[in-house]
Amino acid sequence: MVKKNTCVFISGKGTNLRNLILKSRDYNFPINIRLVITNNPSSMGINYAKINSIPFKIIKSNNRIFEHLIMNELNKYKIDLICLAGYMRIIPKKFFTLFRKKIINIHPSLLPKYKGLNTFSRVLHNKEKKTGCTVHFVNSKLDSGNKIIQKFFYIKPGDNETNLKYKTQKMEYLAFPEAIIRIFR
Ligand code: GRF
Repeated sequence: MVKKNTCVFISGKGTNLRNLILKSRDYNFPINIRLVITNNPSSMGINYAKINSIPFKIIKSNNRIFEHLIMNELNKYKIDLICLAGYMRIIPKKFFTLFRKKIINIHPSLLPKYKGLNTFSRVLHNKEKKTGCTVHFVNSKLDSGNKIIQKFFYIKPGDNETNLKYKTQKMEYLAFPEAIIRIFR
């Protein structure tokens, strides 16, 4: 199998990155992670790139030419797929015309509900019965591209933001790899 060259964009802990790195060791998993890009020099996720000898690049989004800096890196590693895994910056419209391949994102809610930030507090405030995560294609509107996969669970009495996040992330570690398999099937 010829694996797709993938770049993961992160800003924080990088636990989804860690999970994708583990999955990509499987011969049958359709991607290899060739590059990690972050806007945040203190992102803990950078350590997973270092430990696994994956090249990483810190590119701050206040840099006037940051789309071009990113494109240079993507071209250098012949990237076919971008996975946004907790990347806390909006992808500028211009970027979609520069990078014509697939870009996917993982979001901690059942889209189209609860786009944007603070999903868990809003879910609890609205007394939702269930929540979960969505993997979707990225377009120029926030958290709005076509869905690839969604996973949910029922909220229990006493659930709070911390354990909703924990349960959602456990689902993310299943959903992101499944979505990747689905798009390259
Ligand atoms: C995930 O929960 C994802 O849904 C959201 O950002 C979080 C990133 O977590 N977009 P991590 O950095 O992968 O641990």
